[in-house]
Amino acid sequence: MPAPSPKTPKTIAIVSQKGGSGKTTLALHLAAAATHAKKTSCVVDTDPQATAAAWGDWRGDFLPVVVTSPPARLARTIENAHKQDVEFVVIDTPPHAESAMREAIKAADLVLIPSRPRAFDLHALEAIAEMVNFTKTPAYVVLNAVPAGATKQVAEATEAAKALGLKTCPVTFGERADFHRSSARGEVAAEVDAEGKAAGEASALWKWTAKQLRG
Ligand SMILES: Nc1ncnc2c1ncn2[C@@H]1O[C@H](COP(=O)(O)OP(=O)(O)OP(=O)(O)O)[C@@H](O)[C@H]1O
Ligand SMILES: [Mg+2]
Repeated sequence: MPAPSPKTPKTIAIVSQKGGSGKTTLALHLAAAATHAKKTSCVVDTDPQATAAAWGDWRGDFLPVVVTSPPARLARTIENAHKQDVEFVVIDTPPHAESAMREAIKAADLVLIPSRPRAFDLHALEAIAEMVNFTKTPAYVVLNAVPAGATKQVAEATEAAKALGLKTCPVTFGERADFHRSSARGEVAAEVDAEGKAAGEASALWKWTAKQLRG
């Protein structure tokens, strides 16, 4: 029997060279929403800070599973996930680590780039844009921690991304205590307040993502 393709589980890379842009928040919320939608999902934490893995430890036996992997071992880690029937893999990546970012992008079907509109950093986006334009991997900036009423900032950030050839995800995450509070205790926003705005945004991002992956 041929070896399973390492790309078989649908794989999302969450990348941004900027620290604190929301990579781990997005990764955990996406994987948890996928689990909620009855998809077997897994977070692969390639960040030596291991923030996502610590979240998994606090969470205990509740899904999704979080595994750690050095970037150079990503293909093998995804292959192992495939053998365990994982359908959906989210790769969390470290900031300021171009080679880790490249490995994650190589493994991905879809790349999401969280960015705070206030600290929109074109320079940090340039390397990602270059890489995804080269690999032709679909990639979207996801505006995160958008302050209430920041319509102008969102429009400006969208234009700036476009100038680099990057699309912007129609779903954005607001600046919400539920995202911050939940992550710090091994939960996701929907587990803090299932009816809250943060939970709604996470669910919308999952639905949009699942649609992109279906093609
Ligand atoms: N939408 C949001 N609303 C409120 N707080 C947020 C939001 N997104 C992220 N945060 C908080 O901002 C901090 C940084 O977020 P996060 O850890 O997800 O970023 P990161 O890109 O993974 O950081 P690093 O580059 O250090 O890995 C965390 O304390 C997180 O809880
Ligand atoms: Mg992180």
